[in-house]
Amino acid sequence: MSRASENLAVLGLQWGDEGKGKLVDLLAPRYRHVVRFQGGNNAGHTVVVDGQSLALHQVPSGALHPGCFLVVGSGVVLNLDVFEQELSRLRDRGIDVTSRLLLSDKAHLILPHHIALDVWREERAHKVGAKIGTTGRGIGPAYEMKAARMGLRVGDLKHPDVLAERIRPGYDEVRLRLGSGAELPTIEAIVENLLKAIEPLLGCIGNAQAHLQDAWAKGEQILFEGAQAALLDLDHGTYPFVTSSNCSLGGLFTGTGLPPKALHRILGVAKAYTTRVGAGPMVSELTNATGDHLREAGREYGTTTGRPRRCGWFDAPITAHACRTNGVDGLAIMKLDVLDGMAEVGIVVGYLDAHGHPVGQLPSCAAEWADLQPDVRMYKGWQTPTRGVTDHQQLPAEAQAYLDALAEAVEMPIVYVSTGPDRAEGCVYPGTFLEPLLA
Ligand code: GDP
Ligand code: IMO
Ligand code: MG
Repeated sequence: MSRASENLAVLGLQWGDEGKGKLVDLLAPRYRHVVRFQGGNNAGHTVVVDGQSLALHQVPSGALHPGCFLVVGSGVVLNLDVFEQELSRLRDRGIDVTSRLLLSDKAHLILPHHIALDVWREERAHKVGAKIGTTGRGIGPAYEMKAARMGLRVGDLKHPDVLAERIRPGYDEVRLRLGSGAELPTIEAIVENLLKAIEPLLGCIGNAQAHLQDAWAKGEQILFEGAQAALLDLDHGTYPFVTSSNCSLGGLFTGTGLPPKALHRILGVAKAYTTRVGAGPMVSELTNATGDHLREAGREYGTTTGRPRRCGWFDAPITAHACRTNGVDGLAIMKLDVLDGMAEVGIVVGYLDAHGHPVGQLPSCAAEWADLQPDVRMYKGWQTPTRGVTDHQQLPAEAQAYLDALAEAVEMPIVYVSTGPDRAEGCVYPGTFLEPLLA
């Protein structure tokens, strides 16, 4: 198999919003299938073309390329109302994807009572200072219901007669928790809304696992689009301040039904600095004017919820952990231009414990994160803008030195540097596996 026909995964290495959408859109023309395999409309993936920005939440970011078949795998949780809104926004741009869209019949649905439970739980947690800061989209409860075997799957919608009885157990449990006064639509109204929403998509429901197995057997190229990121992974992230799916590599296989040998390369995506939206440990966080500067320069406000993102220097320990967890082959470093004009830029090269001793591995308990301090190394900034630069050798010397230090701290080669939101704004490193894919 030629290098160009290898199947590739694009995975986030921080706490989300690294710029996965931009990369997937950029790579998509080389691929026949673009696949989402986990997460739901907590994701917000931005694609910018000719200065126009499009936020995708559940539709794979290959949508703008007519030659791409879009697959929503079984590991995804789907909000059909939001899905329809996305399709409608695409139609407004003259793009109708329904003839090249497959929704796994095994994907689970996000229902109104899941959203109500998510919001209710966060409000209660807020009172005792234990909020996770979820997106409030019902993601956690939808995955909970899946694990509790009370979920509703997309394929169930082909059998309207059984829907009410499939929904009832989970619905009744949520009612018990929220109390009888909680405002929830009736089960009948939920069923009616689901059937209305799925009507135009009935022809898109199918066996996504068989479709992908077949594509793989035929040697058709597949691009896998991660949502969220390794540090939000339910098992390997900063639990409990995580999302409810496996957004690192393991989730790709459970969320598609493909075996590991169907995947050939893994592109890890990180910003040139660190952001996080929601609560939880963030050793690199800068709660000062520098953090504010990064937020404004990088427009660090959530694509999904509009919340301000917490900002800090590039955090090598978390990114290295994410690279190991995902078996990453190369790094795409995004938003380098955001650091333009700063006198100095920092890298968190390690963590120190309360006694100032270096910490070798990331803690696994939330309590153990509390005392950690960042070991920050500062580098000279650059005044020549990097915005729009397409050849890494044309980057200012200080920016090149910074990137070299970053790659060394993570022990991973850089294969792409992004210098602006648009497709054309970025440098592919010659001689790397990415070069033929973006040639
Ligand atoms: P995702 O969730 O990983 O797809 O990332 P988001 O779309 O939520 O957030 C990334 C944001 O950064 C989007 O608004 C992108 O348009 C923007 N972006 C991506 N790459 C660059 C870059 O190199 N420079 C700048 N300034 N913005 C970028
Ligand atoms: P993309 O794909 C950034 C965060 C939430 C919260 C935690 C749990 O755009 O990178 P959830 O609603 O999933 O139960 O919230 O996860 N979160 C994200 N942060 N980008 C995302 O997706 C996120 N999806 C969830 O802010 O801290
Ligand atoms: Mg995002």
